[in-house]
Amino acid sequence: MWSSMTLRKRIAMLLGALLAGVFLATMAGLWIANEEDITAEREPFERQSAQVAASLNAVINASNNPDRVLNAFVASLETSSGAITFQTDRATNDVWRKMPRVPSWFLQLLPLQEHWSRSYPVEVGGRTLGYLTFFQDLYPDVYEKWLTFLTVVVIFLVFGTGSLVIIYFGLGTMLRPLGSLEEGLEAIGRGALPGAHIRHGPPEINRLIEKTNEIGVAMSGLRRENNELLRSMVALQDRERDEVSRDLHDELGPMLFGLRANAISLQQTASIEGCRNRAVEMENSIAALQGAHRQILDRLRPMEIREVGLTRSIAELVERSANVDPSLRISLNTQPGLDKAAEAVSRTVYRLVQEAILNIQRHSHATEAEVSVAVNPGTSGSDTILVSISDNGVGFPDDLSVGRGLSGMSERVKALGGKFALHRNATGARITCELPLAG
Ligand SMILES: Nc1ncnc2c1ncn2[C@@H]1O[C@H](COP(=O)(O)OP(=O)(O)OP(=O)(O)O)[C@@H](O)[C@H]1O
Ligand SMILES: [Mg+2]
Repeated sequence: MWSSMTLRKRIAMLLGALLAGVFLATMAGLWIANEEDITAEREPFERQSAQVAASLNAVINASNNPDRVLNAFVASLETSSGAITFQTDRATNDVWRKMPRVPSWFLQLLPLQEHWSRSYPVEVGGRTLGYLTFFQDLYPDVYEKWLTFLTVVVIFLVFGTGSLVIIYFGLGTMLRPLGSLEEGLEAIGRGALPGAHIRHGPPEINRLIEKTNEIGVAMSGLRRENNELLRSMVALQDRERDEVSRDLHDELGPMLFGLRANAISLQQTASIEGCRNRAVEMENSIAALQGAHRQILDRLRPMEIREVGLTRSIAELVERSANVDPSLRISLNTQPGLDKAAEAVSRTVYRLVQEAILNIQRHSHATEAEVSVAVNPGTSGSDTILVSISDNGVGFPDDLSVGRGLSGMSERVKALGGKFALHRNATGARITCELPLAG
């Protein structure tokens, strides 16, 4: 619970606990002081009341007519307004419960009972005539203590509630700029500029926000540079592939063609049958070599994209792939508008589909695959291409180790500022990517 509490709730709780502690300590101090106070007043009261009782007993015992002296004394007590009484039995001492304006629970807390009254027997010749009871008037004292208690409670209530409210709302206002900081950091995480606005917060937080903005600007610069690097790396790769494929095409192509022509002519001109048969075998091998040569060229450089457009290039790629492995049924779904894609984007989509199908054939054990390439119309002309390639195979392994295929796809897509993701379907794997149509 503590760990999920906001900072201001934590501080408010700590302050609340501190105030409660100080309040309890003050109350304990008051209680001890009250007890000492009341105990201190008990001693003179007891001494004086004992003296009066002893004097009365002495006077009565010295008199010839003790009853008359006692009656005269009792009559004089009427002016004592109840502070001294004479009764034939001991007086009950629960009078203290009835103090006006002081609640009884407060009185229970004070050590009053034993201090309230003292009774002394009046005896003549060993005969007890009654009891003289002295009542201590503690009311002004108790009332004063009650008022002190009330004052302390009110001060704590007003001061405690006030400081809690001030701390809670004051901290809320002070920490509000941290929200800007959070927004800024989130933006940096998303790859956007932070744009955290500095609200009027404490200088420490304002400085943090300024630093976050600076880091965000630096990060977005680095990200731009990184994308440019990736873009030029991919472009370089494509250029190299183009060159290799051109060399292969220009040098190996004519040689293979010449070899095949010679093999055919050998078939036609050789007089020995064994030679003619070898020439046929040679021609077949050279035809197979030419097929492999074409496939390598196709993989290295999909020539047709520029000439026939992305839609047809992908359709032909899918058809060729299906021919290579007839156990995999590939369905293709393309939407109009793909041919408007920039050349770099078309190449990336082509390579992505090519590598994804190759991966399905090599790793997935799937029987069906689905390739879908669509244009997603964006606001203010920022259309994107959405690519999805899925299969019904075993899916990506839990301990996926990315090879050149997947990392190449991701680099190409990032270089064009797109998004690339791998998904584990309920059955099989899925790759998706989104690229800006204009590159
Ligand atoms: N459609 C798929 N179904 C299941 N696993 C897949 C699929 N596609 C890729 N994988 C897994 O992802 C791994 C990485 O693929 P990636 O294309 O990066 O490398 P590779 O195919 O192993 O080698 P290469 O570098 O030659 O492409 C594969 O080894 C495979 O385990
Ligand atoms: Mg691969």
